[in-house]
Amino acid sequence: MSALLGGRIAVVTGGASGIGKAISQTLAKHGARVVVADLDSGNAAATAKALPASQSHSSFACDVSNADSVKGLSEHVKSLGTPSILVNCAGITKDSTLLKMKQEQWDSVIKVNLTGVFHVSQAFVKASVDNNNHPLSIINVSSIVGKMGNFGQTNYAATKAGVIGFTKSAAKELAKKNVRVNAVLPGFIKTPMTEAMPPTVLAEICKGIPMGRMGEAEEIANSVLYLASDLSSYVTGATLEVTGGFSM
Ligand code: NAI
Repeated sequence: MSALLGGRIAVVTGGASGIGKAISQTLAKHGARVVVADLDSGNAAATAKALPASQSHSSFACDVSNADSVKGLSEHVKSLGTPSILVNCAGITKDSTLLKMKQEQWDSVIKVNLTGVFHVSQAFVKASVDNNNHPLSIINVSSIVGKMGNFGQTNYAATKAGVIGFTKSAAKELAKKNVRVNAVLPGFIKTPMTEAMPPTVLAEICKGIPMGRMGEAEEIANSVLYLASDLSSYVTGATLEVTGGFSM
């Protein structure tokens, strides 16, 4: 096992599926003690149990859009120590064109993808500052859609663009408090979220990707590993595009 993250506590929201699960696995492989925080308690527990050195890890059922639920998560993590890594990966889509979009589709996506990042980040920044500015690396999983827009995703793209603005503002506020804040902007990645898209649409998307294929969740996890570790010690407020060249 690599010691790149040598026993540091890492909290991964949405850590039970797709990209978040790959991030949990990669951080654990490199020595982190991972807390898999997810709405889906069964998958979160199973993911934590299957990580290397499983006794070092834990899971917690948490709804990032709910402040009380996030308070419960931060109390669980406090009992383990002070986290050094926070990955905000929980996210949902509720696609519709603007003309057909229901208020519920708008509100729920904003609540999870954007307000969730606020709740969880605030809780763990407080923990860090209260512990003598304990070093913390926050990695927000945004999306290339936040920069480019996407048909049928005004709600989702607005949240992912919002996460970029949040990342840069928090990076400026927290740089002198030992907290780095960066974002990863994945392109189209093979996960349960994109499995829901029609294969013909995915094939059409691949034609526009210079590398000619969708990304693997592990390829996003490796970019998160870089931002989580000291290899990126002078990097804050950055947006790292991992898209197979889709956005240049
Ligand atoms: P996924 O659907 O496989 O995983 C999302 C996870 O988030 C699930 O385990 C789900 O239970 C959890 N979750 C949903 N709502 C939650 C809540 N309120 N509180 C806590 N956990 C919650 O999706 P995927 O594809 O792995 O996406 C992960 C992140 O990556 C999302 O933020 C997504 O927007 C982003 N992303 C995904 C891309 C893709 O092509 N798959 C591309 C760009 C960004």
